Amino acid sequence: MLLTFQWPSVEVLLLFAVGLAGAIWLYQVLFCPMVLSRQLGDLGYHPDGKRNMKAFANDVRRRRQRGHLPPVFPNGWWGILESRFLQRGQVKEVVALGQHLAVFRQEDGTVSVVDAYCPHLGANLGVGGRVVGNCIECPFHGWRYRGEDGKCMHIPYAAKVPDVARVKSWRCLERNGSIYVWYHCDGEEPSWTPKTIEEIQSGEWTCRGFSEHFINAHVEEISENGADVGHLNHLHGPGVTAGNDLRHIWSSLAGFLTHRWEADWQQLPSPDTQFGTMTVEMDVYLFGHRIPGSNIKAHALQNGPGVVFLYIDGPLMNLVLVSSITPVEPLLLHYTQSIYASRRTPTFVAKTVQWGEAVQLERDVTVWNNKSYPAKPVLVKEDAAIVRHRRWYSQFYSENSPRFTTHRTSLDW
Ligand code: FES
Ligand SMILES: [Fe+2]
Repeated sequence: MLLTFQWPSVEVLLLFAVGLAGAIWLYQVLFCPMVLSRQLGDLGYHPDGKRNMKAFANDVRRRRQRGHLPPVFPNGWWGILESRFLQRGQVKEVVALGQHLAVFRQEDGTVSVVDAYCPHLGANLGVGGRVVGNCIECPFHGWRYRGEDGKCMHIPYAAKVPDVARVKSWRCLERNGSIYVWYHCDGEEPSWTPKTIEEIQSGEWTCRGFSEHFINAHVEEISENGADVGHLNHLHGPGVTAGNDLRHIWSSLAGFLTHRWEADWQQLPSPDTQFGTMTVEMDVYLFGHRIPGSNIKAHALQNGPGVVFLYIDGPLMNLVLVSSITPVEPLLLHYTQSIYASRRTPTFVAKTVQWGEAVQLERDVTVWNNKSYPAKPVLVKEDAAIVRHRRWYSQFYSENSPRFTTHRTSLDW
């Protein structure tokens, strides 16, 4: 008997293609980490409708009254890059704390951070530089600098390497999936290091998503938000479904879902004074009625001026959001969040939390991008945690901490 092959009809093929696309989409939603990147001018401004957002944002930045700002680069550990974004043998340029840095990973896995500009003729080691052994090689004439201390070890066309040939090497460490550098305006050595989150270090909790936001604000503002209990039920009261645009979050259409918050902020006693701690509890309300089982408890640990760990436990989840808020330059922050979750936490739950967190954060971004910083704010008794927070945060400044000047060298965004 002869078997003949018959091509399926167009309808069947179409159905198969749609089914396959749907399955791929579902797989990505359920199992793939979420990546969210918001550049400056993507959000956080309310242009008048006729104007380009980026041009409007630059205008706001120029004419804004900044108030009495604290120094712009506090002393402490700063997250500059996620570990997984730097492979062995890879070099990246990072701009942080007003400095251009070349970050590289040696073949044995060690990470080094050096000043990016080569002391020879100023080429940028982070752009085209190459890892050779434990050194970074300049792309211009091939001088090689040791990651550990920045000393020049090799000049391909010179018989002798002068002692003065060295770049500044930054103290750095890798922890919780992040690369941190130490900054102190007077060059003092660190008296503490960022806390280790065992669940991440051991690989027990895995990364389920990453987000980044660029914000036009002073770095203390972001930290202070944790102690600003009074803003939670206002700015973050409307449900996440109301979105991030402050002009619409109170619209009656969006108002069917609301959040009710309770929070407290304290600093930890000596010897852990570099920690601020915030406890938060949140319930979700549908048309004014509390949704049973919607209660979420969170605990944030502020570890120094720009590193925050936010632990969230709920019926389906154990999560920690590892955040770095690092000044790129005065009043320009790079806020990154990586979300790590226990095995029992489904990825789509972690991603939902990450999305909700991003929507709420983006409301703050609009406030931060446009606000002033009053040195003596008018406060009420219920704002007491803000005063405690300002006192706590002042430990990260010292007499020589750089201050904001109106003389700017950077270009528009
Ligand atoms: S500029 Fe770097 S080696 Fe010459
Ligand atoms: Fe907030």
